[in-house]
Amino acid sequence: MNHPEMQGLALNAPVYVKNAKLIAWVADMAALCKPDAIVWCDGSDAEYQRLCQKLVDAGTFQKLNPVTRPNSFLALSDPSDVARVEDRTFICSAEKEEAGPTNNWIAPAEMRATLQPLFDGCMKGRTMYVVPFSMGPLGSPIAHIGIELSDSAYVAVNMKLMTRMGRAVYDVLGADGEFVPCVHTVGAPLSAGEKDVKWPCNKTKYIVHYPETREIWSYGSGYGGNALLGKKCFALRIASNMGREEGWLAEHMLILGVTTPKGKKYHVAAAFPSACGKTNFSMLVPPAGFDGWKVTTIGDDIAWIKPSADGQLRAINPEAGYFGVAPGTNMLTNPNCMLSVRSDTIFTNVALTDDGDVWWEGMEQDAPGKALPKHLIDWQGKDWSPEIARATGAKAAHPNSRFTVAATNNPALDSAWDDPKGVPIDAFIFGGRRSTTVPLVSEARSWVEGVYMAATMGSETTAAIVGQVGVVRRDPFAMLPFIGYNMSDYFQHWLNIGEQLAAKGAKLPKIYTANWFRKGADGKFVWPGYGENMRVLKWMIERIEGTAKGQDHTTGVSPGYTDLTWDGLDFSAEQFNAVISTDKAALLKELELHTELFTQLAHHLPRVLVETKAAIEKQLAA
Ligand code: OXD
Ligand code: MN
Repeated sequence: MNHPEMQGLALNAPVYVKNAKLIAWVADMAALCKPDAIVWCDGSDAEYQRLCQKLVDAGTFQKLNPVTRPNSFLALSDPSDVARVEDRTFICSAEKEEAGPTNNWIAPAEMRATLQPLFDGCMKGRTMYVVPFSMGPLGSPIAHIGIELSDSAYVAVNMKLMTRMGRAVYDVLGADGEFVPCVHTVGAPLSAGEKDVKWPCNKTKYIVHYPETREIWSYGSGYGGNALLGKKCFALRIASNMGREEGWLAEHMLILGVTTPKGKKYHVAAAFPSACGKTNFSMLVPPAGFDGWKVTTIGDDIAWIKPSADGQLRAINPEAGYFGVAPGTNMLTNPNCMLSVRSDTIFTNVALTDDGDVWWEGMEQDAPGKALPKHLIDWQGKDWSPEIARATGAKAAHPNSRFTVAATNNPALDSAWDDPKGVPIDAFIFGGRRSTTVPLVSEARSWVEGVYMAATMGSETTAAIVGQVGVVRRDPFAMLPFIGYNMSDYFQHWLNIGEQLAAKGAKLPKIYTANWFRKGADGKFVWPGYGENMRVLKWMIERIEGTAKGQDHTTGVSPGYTDLTWDGLDFSAEQFNAVISTDKAALLKELELHTELFTQLAHHLPRVLVETKAAIEKQLAA
């Protein structure tokens, strides 16, 4: 098939692509974007190597030392294109109220009129890659298919690591299967003979979602969640809409398996805002003294969770790789991650060592006396040394620098990570980054109290988004940047799911909040975190089993000092008090922020959440 406006450009759809709707859409998009060529990705290793070599030739990739970091590459982005752009992200539902007060909204027709001239000819001088991917195990009843059209080979190779990408997707799609169309351009067409830059992008950026038609259009950025459209755009913003319509949940959650010394296995899904240690928690290595306990990874960032007929919540990881934050990762904080990225990894915006390996801040902190490298090339391609860093404060790696690696590289990968049925969820954890006020761990006494705790969660912002870092903002369910519809309707959806499961007589997962980030008067973290979080996880599991004690307080049930296991860790009752205590004055201030949030979310805010808040206020006043 050739589109009248394709002017001789061959569509070249492979014979195994049978979906007429897909072929027509690719032809339409090619006619609009006017690439020089179209490549239908098959997901093969040969294709991956070919595209990586192309990126090396273009200067986008640097091949790393084949001995110390086999089959791995470093990309340095344009310094203006380093993180997700929340202020350029839009939910273009038909009605503004549908997007809700936490999302940027523009009417679909107006947005289409804005994007049309931007996309017209946007891929001139470039290749359009057709990237077929499955979010979730191929053919799973919880999975869905997407097709990303992108003019970035960097995106194509990242999608190969991050998703189940390739030819087999077309077998599942068949002649009339559904897919989410995702169009991405770096927004940098090349005129004849124009030399390309290493990281093409555009100052103008649009990350656009049309929930009703389930479409994604992304313009101007080549970075992370702005460009790898399976991740935040599809798996959270569009999928949250699908889940709402179809009765399931798309969540910003890691999924882990935890096996007790008695061999009993539990599954926990945990929501934390970006760059709050989800990858570390999902790959946790239990500390000394926890013999027989094992933690395995199902996913590190996103969970799709569906109620089964018997009322069990079953979860899959829609992704197949990790796009994790590099700084701070080392053999102490996350050994499984360090082992995962030993080979076959794409690094973005970390520093380059003189022997062709990678480095980032914190890599030196896993052994006493380990020296900083004497010289590096930093993420902006400039010389870096400890002296320069001391004098200028220059970071060798960008604070939001990343690794992209396939899940199959993870030594702690759960054997059920690719199970089409998913895994049954026993507990949810909602965590934020809070230096004060919020206790290390708290258990909700009911589903409604858990939903309240998740809905009112706050967290300090991180470098994963463009903007100010370290500001406390409400981040309900860690979904503030990712919910694809009105936040209050999303709270109601969670309440509805709880009611439906209860009506089936199902045992509901327990709901916890966690905060690894309380600081002492000296400004330092009090809780050691990382592997030591196992102590909290063990308490949660024992609460599920009904064997651990806890103490009731205003916003839930928390362990006392003697309710946690302290073998192998020197942590005093006083230190524990500093991370678990809740102060009445601080709580009252916190409730003022809940009031602010509820005022913002007043439209459709579930009454039961307002009542829960009133009950807490009453208790505090007593
Ligand atoms: C991510 C994020 O990249 O949450 O996962 O920003
Ligand atoms: Mn994330």
